[in-house]
Amino acid sequence: MAEQMRLDKFFSSQSLASRKETAKLVRQGRVLVNGVPAKAADQKITPGCDRVSLDGEELSFQKHVYLMLHKPAGVVSATQDGRYPTVLDLVPPELFRRGLFPAGRLDRDTEGFVLLTDDGEFAHDILSPRRHVPKEYEAVLDAPVGDAEVEAFAGGMTLESGEVCKPAGLCVLPQGDGRMVRVTLVEGKYHQIKRMFGALGRKVEYLKRTKIGGLPLDENLPKGSCKALSSREVSAIIKHI
Ligand code: URA
Repeated sequence: MAEQMRLDKFFSSQSLASRKETAKLVRQGRVLVNGVPAKAADQKITPGCDRVSLDGEELSFQKHVYLMLHKPAGVVSATQDGRYPTVLDLVPPELFRRGLFPAGRLDRDTEGFVLLTDDGEFAHDILSPRRHVPKEYEAVLDAPVGDAEVEAFAGGMTLESGEVCKPAGLCVLPQGDGRMVRVTLVEGKYHQIKRMFGALGRKVEYLKRTKIGGLPLDENLPKGSCKALSSREVSAIIKHI
């Protein structure tokens, strides 16, 4: 049977209002449960079963939270670090949830899309090489690449360490004289893109993750900001699996 939850816990878990704010909303008569004004903030509801609305708008229930962060350079993909700011330091209090962690790491100097969630199973699914969820990156290299490098990526490269990579996509972008590329990986080895280009005698000068699965980084999300994803956006990440 679905688990019951206090109304104020429901509101705070969905990043809608703090417990204190929920009590106020209830007093103001703005919260309805199954069409009837809620009696108290500690009233028990069954999320996903009872219909809860605020100011006439029905609220959907998300058990977990999924955030898109536009990571700037200089921030580490960790939950804590003694030296550098972490991706969690960029989450505003209204979106923060205990148990949040980055689903996949970007290097400190890499920018772009980091998914933060408290859903371990989902994170495992999108990171597992067996699930083949593609991650897309844009990179600027120190020297041009061409067909030979595209073929090397597609063939599954062997790194200098001896590690063998899964076939990866490499597309030379029209702008940038052969130095601007799009890379698609279905796995996430340590420094993978830098090491793949390193094995081909190139250096990565700039790197940004632009897409996870079917969900691109929101172009309107400023660097250093984060936003909650809707359930439709979360599904877009894995829809092709
Ligand atoms: N590959 C890298 O080399 N660095 C990243 O941050 C991501 C992929």
